[in-house]
Amino acid sequence: MTVQQPLIRTAAPHTHTTAPVDATKITVRDVNVFYGEKQALDSVSIDIPGKAVTAFIGPSGCGKSTFLRCINRMNDTIPGARVEGRIEIDGEDVNDKSVDPVILRAKVGMVFQKPNPFPKTIFENVAYGPRIHGLSSSKSELEGIVEASLKKAGLWGEVSDRLHQPGTGLSGGQQQRLVIARAIAVQPEVILMDEPCSALDPIATARIEELIDELRQQYCIVIVTHSMAQAARVSQRTAFFHMGKLIEHGSTEEIFTNPREPRTQDYITGRTG
Ligand SMILES: Nc1ncnc2c1ncn2[C@@H]1O[C@H](COP(=O)(O)OP(=O)(O)OP(=O)(O)O)[C@@H](O)[C@H]1O
Ligand SMILES: [Mg+2]
Repeated sequence: MTVQQPLIRTAAPHTHTTAPVDATKITVRDVNVFYGEKQALDSVSIDIPGKAVTAFIGPSGCGKSTFLRCINRMNDTIPGARVEGRIEIDGEDVNDKSVDPVILRAKVGMVFQKPNPFPKTIFENVAYGPRIHGLSSSKSELEGIVEASLKKAGLWGEVSDRLHQPGTGLSGGQQQRLVIARAIAVQPEVILMDEPCSALDPIATARIEELIDELRQQYCIVIVTHSMAQAARVSQRTAFFHMGKLIEHGSTEEIFTNPREPRTQDYITGRTG
């Protein structure tokens, strides 16, 4: 086991709440990823805390999405992708042969740039996961899970009277909250978000950011963003990637006000990227 670094408790400049950052949830050591011959990640090591938001930033193509996909083994589904190194969640190796990737992906939910509700009703979008994972034993229990998940995702008030209408009929921001509710419904511990607001307007973005701030009381959240302002608003920790390497990581305040690396400084001030 690795020694856990004490995490400095600093609220990012614009966060609304100040719940303490938890101990390490995800431990990453010497991760390399190759697509065929091409190396996309080079020896990445980081400890990611629970009950906090960690932002991954860096120029396009630096490997942020690739790294996110290592955490719930989505790279397994990409032909020619090869992952080396070790990733542990609560000390358990996610790449161990005994780990069922389907169960891992329930524990480590993922939200993408473009909201991707299933072509089903709002209710069914949220009920689907709990049903296939056997999380409810009765119809009323399932209804309870759906309601609780939609409430946690901040969507219940807007959809409670139209649960049996198609999820795809919601606005983009509502669809993004619907897929967050869908992720929450299977009791995840980690939620990975890959540019979750980049297809949304500023109001829908603000709503998702508020939601992320609420969710971090309960979950380990990792968010990829191209918006420095968003990283500063929603995250407590920030990791800067450049050309497949993790250049530096630390408290968001430290990275944005006093980065150690010139490459980080150049990126956050808009000189590169
Ligand atoms: N399925 C794939 N097959 C081959 N190469 C890939 C694949 N996915 C990503 N890559 C390559 O791996 C590198 C990292 O890509 P990745 O998508 O992880 O970057 P990113 O930091 O998420 O970029 P962006 O900010 O544009 O989303 C890039 O050079 C990319 O071209
Ligand atoms: Mg990406």
